[in-house]
This record gives sequence, structure tokens and C-alpha cells, in this order.
Amino acid sequence: MNFDQAAKKLADWNQSHVLQYFDELSEKEQADLLTQIEETDLSVLNRIHDEAGARGAFSPLAAMELGEIEARRDELFDAGLKTIQGGKTAALLLAGGMGTRLGSAHPKGMYNVGLTKPLYIFECIVNNLLDVVKESGTWIRLFVMTSEKNHDETVSFFEEKNYFGYQKEKVVFFKQSMAPCCDFDGKLYMEEKGRISTSPNGNAGWYSSMLRAGLGRVLEEEGIEWINVFAVDNVLQRICDPCFIGATVLADVSVGAKVVRKAAPDEKVGVMCLEDGKPSIVEYYELSQEMMDAKDAKGDPAYNFGVILNYLFRTSELDKVTDDKMSMHVVKKKIPYLSENGEHVAPEEPNGFKFEQLVLDMIHQLSSCLPYEVVREYEFAPIKNLTGIDSVESARELMKKNGVEL
Ligand code: UTP
Repeated sequence: MNFDQAAKKLADWNQSHVLQYFDELSEKEQADLLTQIEETDLSVLNRIHDEAGARGAFSPLAAMELGEIEARRDELFDAGLKTIQGGKTAALLLAGGMGTRLGSAHPKGMYNVGLTKPLYIFECIVNNLLDVVKESGTWIRLFVMTSEKNHDETVSFFEEKNYFGYQKEKVVFFKQSMAPCCDFDGKLYMEEKGRISTSPNGNAGWYSSMLRAGLGRVLEEEGIEWINVFAVDNVLQRICDPCFIGATVLADVSVGAKVVRKAAPDEKVGVMCLEDGKPSIVEYYELSQEMMDAKDAKGDPAYNFGVILNYLFRTSELDKVTDDKMSMHVVKKKIPYLSENGEHVAPEEPNGFKFEQLVLDMIHQLSSCLPYEVVREYEFAPIKNLTGIDSVESARELMKKNGVEL
């Protein structure tokens, strides 16, 4: 994109200030800014005033519960193992987030949760996947999604740690797309004189970002039919767990979702359900009293299973999911920026919007889903904060209970 084209694109969106310092930039900075303007999707700015979409009619979606899983364990395990050994399953680590709540200056996966020896979050994830590699005798393709903010550090860390014993050739890193950040009036912030302020575009960006990185070819060439997508911060989760894969494959659904039984009817987790007959997730604040009281045929709460961000997607269904059909979450955040007089400002209060699309919104684009119950104490130890709920502290306790050496 040349200068005139960039100026035109910006003028169309009332963002001409982005070129305010253009003449002061070096040639390289000028070229980089023009590329950034070309690549930035400014249409997100239209979504600032999106009304929260009216929700459809909710109804319960039965989960495969522990009792059934136990009774069918051999059958599910065999089906899953066969799928893994046929090379049809990949794992995809979502590691593009900023991890702001943890407050570390490095990618979240580099956080050391060890006490008597180093044990990094990335290492925990790889160890969990290695269990399945050993069990199946098959190296599983591992995609790692980063963002431009943490890509280089993440890749160097894997290199430095020798991929924590994983086969290097099986690991592919790709960067997710970024979304611009703006003030409350929709004016883009600049982070430098030659750079629009951006943040990762949410974890639903994984599929389109993967295609943009040319990885659709890898899926095709390797005959990958299922992708287990999971968050970086749950150090206990089982990845490419054969029973979960087997259950999803045998149920012949578009996606499997690991879920945990709610601790209380009003627990603050998103709950799996149907919305207008399609799989969906209802947020805890959207659950009516009537839904909280509803019972299934066994007399158990009908909306009883919360998602833990561990999904198995059928690749052939993913083309149904398009970014423009998914909800856009416009989130108020503190956005560091360059002021009118060229000074860097780190605001103490939210000063603008970031734009994110979330994996849970992908689910509603698909036709069918199997919620698959896992035991919270064995598989759910998210690290969001340093202390308190969902923290390094709480995860360490759970890891100890599960025999992980810290
Ligand atoms: P979170 O919603 O916990 O966000 O991400 P976060 O960025 O890690 O942490 P905070 O909110 O800033 O404290 C859940 C998962 O989705 C990934 C994260 O890396 C984590 O694995 N994620 C999130 C992305 O890969 N990209 C994004 O744009 C956002």
C-alpha cells in the first residue's frame, strides 16, 4: 500500500491522525506503518456500538457424564487411540493472550510454577501431551498460536528448553491477527509515532489466523481431521485425551467440549446448552432463576456443566465459522498510548476499547456439540492471577494433589 492509498483508507474511517508523524519516521518505519495500515481491519470500529445481540431460546444440552464414560471407557479409549495413531488429531495451544492479570512481563507459558525445581507452564502442557505420545506411540502435531507481542520470546523459549522433550519438527508456531485499539469515541490510539496501538484479536482468531499463516496446507497434507484447542493456563488439563477424542468421534458431532460439573447453581462459569437448537454457551449472568431450577430426567440440574476452554473441533466443519458472523466483544481496557504531544502515557483507568472474538462464540456456528464431563480436581487448574481464585497458588495445590512434582 502506498502513502496515498493509506491516506485514503484512513480518511474513509476518520483516522487521518495516524499519519501525523509520517515525515519524522525513518524509511523502514514508514514502510512498516503503511503495511500495518494495509493489514489492519478497521471495520471493527463499526462494532463499538453493537447492541449485545439478543439471545435465542435456550434449552438444555445433555453431557456425557462420568458414569457413562467409565462404563464405556475401553470402547472410547480404543476409538480415540485409533484416531491418534492414524495421525488424524492435532493439538493447538492458545498462547496469544496478554496474560495481564498474572502481571508477568513474559508470555504466560514462561511462568515458573515450580517450587524446588523449575517447572514452566509450557513444560506442564508439553508433559501432559507427552503422556499421550507415549501411550499411543505417535507424535502429535502441535500448533502454537502466539501474537506479535510474544512470538519471538515464545519461540526462543521453546528452542532454549529443547522443546521440553517434544519432537521439534512436530511443533509449528503461528501468529494470530491483531485488532486496533481506540478511545471511547472510536479514534485509534498510536503506540509509537509509526505504529497503531493493537492487541491480539481474541482466541477465536485461531482458525482464520492459522489459514492466513498457510497452515491449511498442513491440515490437508497430514489428513488432520480433529484439532484439540486448549488454553495455555490450565496446567492440569489432559490434551488429546484418547477417551475424549473417542467419545467425540463416536458421537459424530462437529465439536466436543470438556466440561466440569458446576459447584453451585449460581457458579460464575459459562454453561453449555442449546440456543435455538444449536450448541451455545450461556453466561452465568444470563441464567434465569427458571434455568437454574430446571431439572433433567434424572432430577439433576439441567444446566449443570461449565466449559473449561478445551475443545475438539472437526476440521471439515470449520469453514462454517466465519469471523463476521461471530459476536464481537468490545472490552474497556487500559491502553498505553502516545499523547497528542508525543509522550507515552500509561493510563490508570480504562481509556478505550479492545476488540476480541472468543472461542466460545465459534461453538454456536457449528451444528452439534458433545459436552464431555471431566473431574474438576483432576483437570481444571487455570492460572489467571498470582494469588487467590484461579491462581498460581491454587494451581500448585491442585498439582500437588495430582502427584505433580513441584
Ligand atoms: P484469557 O481470556 O485468560 O486472556 O485467555 P489472557 O490474555 O491470557 O489473560 P488476561 O485476561 O490478559 O489476564 C484464555 C486463553 O486464550 C488465549 C490465552 O493465551 C489463553 O490461553 N488467548 C486469549 C489468545 O490466544 N489470544 C487472545 O487474543 C486472547
